[in-house]
Amino acid sequence: MNTLLLPANEESIAQAARLMAQGEIVAIPTETVYGIAGSAFDGAAVKKIFEAKGRPQDNPLIVHVDSLARMEQVVQKITPRAEKLAKAFWPGPLSMILPRGPRLADEVCAGLDTVAVRMPSDPVAHRLVELSGLPFAAPSANRSGSPSPTTAQDVLADMDGRLPLILDGGACKVGVESTVINISGPQPVLLRPGYITQQQLAEALGEEVLLAGAITHKLKEGEIARSPGMKYKHYAPKANVVIVRGSFEQYAAYVEAHKAEGVFCLCFAGEPESLPVPCVTYGSENDPAAQAHDLFRALRELDEEGAKQVYARCPGQEGVALAVYNRLLRAAGFQVVEL
Ligand code: TXA
Ligand code: MG
Repeated sequence: MNTLLLPANEESIAQAARLMAQGEIVAIPTETVYGIAGSAFDGAAVKKIFEAKGRPQDNPLIVHVDSLARMEQVVQKITPRAEKLAKAFWPGPLSMILPRGPRLADEVCAGLDTVAVRMPSDPVAHRLVELSGLPFAAPSANRSGSPSPTTAQDVLADMDGRLPLILDGGACKVGVESTVINISGPQPVLLRPGYITQQQLAEALGEEVLLAGAITHKLKEGEIARSPGMKYKHYAPKANVVIVRGSFEQYAAYVEAHKAEGVFCLCFAGEPESLPVPCVTYGSENDPAAQAHDLFRALRELDEEGAKQVYARCPGQEGVALAVYNRLLRAAGFQVVEL
């Protein structure tokens, strides 16, 4: 298959909408990461998404809508919690899990009786739903297991020949995937941290929001992932990544002791000058939003530069930094050196 890469504009979005209505899949920007979109009502289209990604069939997709009226087509009902969250954070990088509606293709939910829904703020994603009249299912547009794409070129690197069209809307603003919260049970549970934080969610809901254990810990043998996506090794570049937790001085000394051919640092702005090996930076130490913005591109750059072994500076674990830590921890296969 020939893959077209077009700048996102009214004309190319209309083309993407037509393809989607015909049962095709297309790659598009969102404010978080690029996604592969297919009609959420079309099981055959959703199967194409899984095939293009090489994604395990038991990992459900997020459904994207442009309005609450459209959301009503995919959930059982919009609950009071959903209303509060939509009012506070939509359009924006938050996905909420609710009991699913009957019209959705079963493939979207991978057999679960719930669905994750979000209303993206990115104008291209928004317009695609408007023009097609279809809510779309969209996972991140990477091959399963590799870092999520935050530019159209990164999508092309993974998806060339696997889908007919990629819309280029420039670099994604947020850089990590949406926050995922389950509001279908007795208590809200944060399943995947993102730009919208646990504290912001608790404030908007006026109740406690629990953190799923899988966010910062490897699931134990036999433990059930509340969000199926949590159980896979994820976001991993080809290089072996190890997180090194400690002060910058301790980190620099550790790298000095381990420097060798193919060793790279994944560090913060301003630090490469003091390190003895090639470096790729992701944001600055006290700016977790900048870290989130840069992380996936930095992981891909390490591969492009031929890194074999990467020592990564450790992000914080509060607020937006928890999202960064969560992704980096998976990229590192949970390898953390404590200094
Ligand atoms: O920012 C995003 O959310 C991006 C863009 C494209 O919108 N999409 C994205 O999709 O990150 P994906 O498929 O890479 O991640 C979806 C996550 C997975 O961890 C999946 O297991 C979880 O959401 N998920 C989806 N539906 C669920 C459900 N019904 N119950 C529990 N977890 C669910
Ligand atoms: Mg993904």
